[in-house]
Amino acid sequence: MTSPLRIALIGAGVMGRQHHQHLQTLAEAQLCAIADPGPQAEAFAAECGVAYFADYRQMLDEARPEAVIIANPNALHVSTALDCLAAGVPVLLEKPVGVHLDEVRELVAASERTGVPVLVGHHRRHNPLIARARELIEQGALGRLTTVTALWQVQKPDSYYDIPWRREAGAGMLLTNLIHDLDLLRHLCGEVRQVQAITSNAVRGFANEDSVAVLLQFDNGALGSLTGSDAVAAPWSWELDSGENPVYPQQADQPCYLLAGTRGALSIPQLKRWHYAEDGAGWHQPLLRTQETFNADEALRLQLQHFVRVARGQVAPLVSAADAGRTLALVEAIRQAAETGRACAPQIL
Ligand SMILES: NC(=O)c1ccc[n+]([C@@H]2O[C@H](COP(=O)([O-])OP(=O)(O)OC[C@H]3O[C@@H](n4cnc5c(N)ncnc54)[C@H](O)[C@@H]3O)[C@@H](O)[C@H]2O)c1
Repeated sequence: MTSPLRIALIGAGVMGRQHHQHLQTLAEAQLCAIADPGPQAEAFAAECGVAYFADYRQMLDEARPEAVIIANPNALHVSTALDCLAAGVPVLLEKPVGVHLDEVRELVAASERTGVPVLVGHHRRHNPLIARARELIEQGALGRLTTVTALWQVQKPDSYYDIPWRREAGAGMLLTNLIHDLDLLRHLCGEVRQVQAITSNAVRGFANEDSVAVLLQFDNGALGSLTGSDAVAAPWSWELDSGENPVYPQQADQPCYLLAGTRGALSIPQLKRWHYAEDGAGWHQPLLRTQETFNADEALRLQLQHFVRVARGQVAPLVSAADAGRTLALVEAIRQAAETGRACAPQIL
């Protein structure tokens, strides 16, 4: 039998610890070391019973992991991942893949040159309900996809912004939160040709947006809108609706994405599908509702299982650095559209 894959964790903060929890449930992998210069990391490594390093480069040299999970701050993602690729170590890199497209291009080139894979942590794609939604769309259950409505409307408590960098330019909910929704829209609906956008910081008054409205045109002709705010007492967001993370009390009956096509419509995460009994029917006939089913499972755990197969060279990453780079390009296009008041196309990677 193959022995468990030895995985090191670089960055043992909130997200790194979640990865560790899920890693403990896998037979095919085990944590072998932690690298994090932060004040709590050494005690956490002792708790986990693994070697501790303040410097991840020393960890790569001495612990010789077979794969790493990188969950350090965004600005360090690409430089850390490049060092791991140079050491020949496959990477699960938290989102966003980087903070600028140029550095992501460097990462994509390094992964291609070395042949060492990078999986980016857009974990929602691993959620079985998203896999089922994508399958339904691909099978033509909605006909020609025509309109897409996405909602991300939540109330972050004021204390969330006690941490200074969260209030400063460069952070912001587009890169922190809406990047997940934009990645799922690409995954479900296809590539985006162009966007128009308006952002506002009128509620909180910080350097970053607290509300956005985005119009999207997809390559396949579908049109979409995404409205987001982290300053509203509202129930419409993946976080509250999907039940994926128990820290957010669930609003199970509320949708966050509504996809409509010429033959049917789908609400996510409920996976309710609407359609007519016969082609050619219209609004005077009853619109039928079907509850689609799927086998619920933990997206983060499924992502780790996939990562083990990626690191062993058995499968290609579901979300490569280039793929995640296209999601980052979409975020950049939205920022540019909001700044210029013009329609903007995501840059080609
Ligand atoms: N997939 C998701 O849904 C999701 C959710 C939350 C955060 N994230 C991502 O995870 C990453 C970490 O976020 P977080 O909320 O855990 O932040 P955090 O601040 O809780 O943790 C970051 C950790 O990185 C450590 N660190 C700093 N410099 C380092 C270095 N040079 N080498 C190694 N470790 C270093 C810090 O000491 C800290 O422990 C971010 O990129 C964030 O975007 C993803």
